[in-house]
Amino acid sequence: MKTMKWKDNKLVLIDQRKLPDDLIFFTCDNYEDVIFAIKEMVVRGAPAIGVAAAFGMVLGNNAGEDMNIVAKELKSSRPTAINLSWAVDRILNSNKPPLDEAIAMYKEDIDTNLAIGRNGAEIIEKNDTILTHCNAGALACVDYGTALGVIRTAHHQNKNIKVICDETRPLGQGARLSVWEMQQENIPVKLIPDVAAGYLMQTLKINKVIIGADRVCNDGIANKIGSLMVALSAKRFHVPFYVAAPLSTFDLKNSIYDTEIEERTPEEVIYYGGCRIAPIGTEIINPAFDIVPDDLITGIITEKGIIHFDKFKEFFLNMK
Ligand code: MRU
Repeated sequence: MKTMKWKDNKLVLIDQRKLPDDLIFFTCDNYEDVIFAIKEMVVRGAPAIGVAAAFGMVLGNNAGEDMNIVAKELKSSRPTAINLSWAVDRILNSNKPPLDEAIAMYKEDIDTNLAIGRNGAEIIEKNDTILTHCNAGALACVDYGTALGVIRTAHHQNKNIKVICDETRPLGQGARLSVWEMQQENIPVKLIPDVAAGYLMQTLKINKVIIGADRVCNDGIANKIGSLMVALSAKRFHVPFYVAAPLSTFDLKNSIYDTEIEERTPEEVIYYGGCRIAPIGTEIINPAFDIVPDDLITGIITEKGIIHFDKFKEFFLNMK
């Protein structure tokens, strides 16, 4: 399943707002449509918004727009995932025509995820029960996924794994998207409320945690809100906590504490499934991401291999 396609000079996206009930598509005729799709989370997940933004650049170029303005607007559509600016800059700085570069990125994303899957499956043991948070699956990429890519590969290796998905309030990416993806491939999956993760680790029902990331720095990662609470529980109950992310998600220049954490609209919290769940006028705090410090992370699974916690600083020094 591909989250996006370039068809008839347009970008066609699975409309992820409508899943799991309806599999319908959203067509971007121009770069403003891509900005809308990223902001409104028609397309979401760090690698997917990166590749979508690359095609946004193609649409801007085809319409004869000022590419620096298009780049700036695309980059500011969501602030936390570094893949967005990485992808836009790659198109801006490429010698190739924008469409060729965007198609190369589209294909690389799939190959990268397959490699992450192969590398990550090495740490999965037979009969593991793996907790994942949010959706770092095919829907968060062009295809296959990062954290769910590891799970897919281990499943295809007949490791008899089971998956536990946090529902991932407030937007339910775990419930709506990760469970749906697992069900499509008959991978055994159970859904839990976010607040149950700690208890399940305490009672030894979870052997591993694998999540994705929106940004990886040498002192930690940023990922969907709730990742920090999962990581803290995992540390307390000695559950290995892995992050699966492509090198395009790595930020070699900054501290993770410099990351802009997106704050989203109060309506996402005050309404649940269309029903208001708190009094009118309630003040809301709705950060979309949080930061997991490096000392809570067992390792980062990349397309080039797994970087263990004690090698983080060294790895970043060598990458610079
Ligand atoms: O707000 P979202 O749904 O875009 O958040 C997505 C996540 O936090 C993912 O875990 C992350 O982007 C990694 S996707 C491979």
